[in-house]
Amino acid sequence: MRKKIVAGNWKMNTTVQEGIELAKGVNDKVSGSDVTVILCTPFVHLTEVKRQISKETLYLGAQNCSDHQSGAYTGEVSAAMVKSAGADYVILGHSERRSYYGETDSLLADKVKIVLENNLTPIFCVGEVLKEREAGKHFDVVKKQMNEGLFNLSAPEFSKIVIAYEPVWAIGTGKTATAEQAQEIHKVIRDHIAAKYGSEIAENTSVIYGGSCKPSNAKELFSNPDVDGGLIGGASLNADDFMGIVTAF
Ligand code: 13P
Repeated sequence: MRKKIVAGNWKMNTTVQEGIELAKGVNDKVSGSDVTVILCTPFVHLTEVKRQISKETLYLGAQNCSDHQSGAYTGEVSAAMVKSAGADYVILGHSERRSYYGETDSLLADKVKIVLENNLTPIFCVGEVLKEREAGKHFDVVKKQMNEGLFNLSAPEFSKIVIAYEPVWAIGTGKTATAEQAQEIHKVIRDHIAAKYGSEIAENTSVIYGGSCKPSNAKELFSNPDVDGGLIGGASLNADDFMGIVTAF
């Protein structure tokens, strides 16, 4: 059975001290339901946030990592470092990384491999920009991102992946995909996985939604059969709002 997941992507927000308080607030409110809750913090927060986490269903994640194992790569952070800080998840291919830092699907394919080799779970982001949706190309865009970023994996490797569908036009804009739009493309994503890896793996892969998800719209989004949770930006910076989304399941 696939996991229900609500992951907070803090992006480049909070000082370490603010992050500690936020994590404490979330930890206090997590009540051990069947939802896996993940806090994806800035790198420098990982170790401290880990100390605040005591609930069984609460996990730590990073927002990126290097495509190299180790060595002379000034300023980079490796998957092994992330793992050693206590994280279990890493967001890869967020649209902000793709558009501001030029991350390509082929670079992301390398990062996915390294993340898996270090026993971390990639949360692999896909999603179209507004122009692509308006041109009716959104299904092709996400399929290409999956083909090039993920479909070189073996079936056992792919079984460990979480996919986040984040329409770029819905990120931080207050414009959410409708429940129908989310269900439609999540089903396309699951069918695309089934065509490559078979229906059992497709049924067991968590596909979560991201883009202006809030306590007020989470329930409607998550009630769709192919939406297995959310990747939350802005609303993850407030413990009450974030937990309002978690309890929407
Ligand atoms: P918002 O929830 O702020 O729209 O951000 C979504 C996102 O990018 C999560 O990764």
